[in-house]
Amino acid sequence: MTVAQKLLRWYDRHGRDLPWRNTRDPYKILVSEIMLHQTQVSRALIFYPRWLKQFPNWKALAKASNTKVIRAWSGLGYNRRALALRDIAKQTMEQGIPSTEQEWLALKGIGPYTAAALAAFSGHEKTLPIDTNIRRVLGRMLLGKPFPQFTDDKRIRSLGMDDWSRITKFYDIPQALFDLANSHCKKRPDCETCPLRQDCLAAKKFLNGTVRVPRQMIKKSIEKIHRNKKYPDRIYRGKILKVINEKKRVSIKSLAQQIDPTYKDRVDRIWLQKMVHRMIKDRLITKDQIV
Ligand code: ADE
Repeated sequence: MTVAQKLLRWYDRHGRDLPWRNTRDPYKILVSEIMLHQTQVSRALIFYPRWLKQFPNWKALAKASNTKVIRAWSGLGYNRRALALRDIAKQTMEQGIPSTEQEWLALKGIGPYTAAALAAFSGHEKTLPIDTNIRRVLGRMLLGKPFPQFTDDKRIRSLGMDDWSRITKFYDIPQALFDLANSHCKKRPDCETCPLRQDCLAAKKFLNGTVRVPRQMIKKSIEKIHRNKKYPDRIYRGKILKVINEKKRVSIKSLAQQIDPTYKDRVDRIWLQKMVHRMIKDRLITKDQIV
């Protein structure tokens, strides 16, 4: 049995039934991909149907205001993703809806991963989208690298496509790889029960104990440990938006107290100022709203 056959057989039995897998509509695919970027599947599952109800297509989203878009996104974090999504919708209304990877890539706000995902999942092209999950699975399996990097993508893509470009059910390959990354091929992998362990160059290294997961990979992101706070920064950014949406204008001191009762000006001011500056730069708030 080939690797693809093993993978697809495993996916038939264990694959997740996710709502964005039942559509070939590029709009719905883009919404899911942008949500899934830095958001867990369990969270995207809550927001995806709500978003589509409010903005069912490119046209509805293209004409939505910043405030409406950010409100609907509230809870997902990284609000500039919502504005970027709306701006992509505007571009499709003006220039038409792309179909190939190259055409998607020409839009502002679409990177190489998203362009490939859109072309592959809307059924237009057999092309391999490589995000951190797929990079981890394929970099391990094909290159034998326990912790593959962005710079490995070119080789991963050429080796992967060499094997898979003729497969009819190509759509399922990246989807199966997402699921395998989630269930077995995690940062600290579970190779013993992985359906591809016999084909994976890195599994041997993990199984014989010659690879250790570096400590910093298990540690939380820098943002999470920043200032030793209870929440990651995106939660505070969400709180800032909420205060500003309600009050329209607010002093930095009052804002600080409302988003974080433990705020101490002496140690926390730079953190808050940086966060506010970034939000102004990202067009989430305006300068004159902070007095
Ligand atoms: N991450 C990015 N795209 C995904 C998808 N379609 N399914 C699951 N996880 C994903």
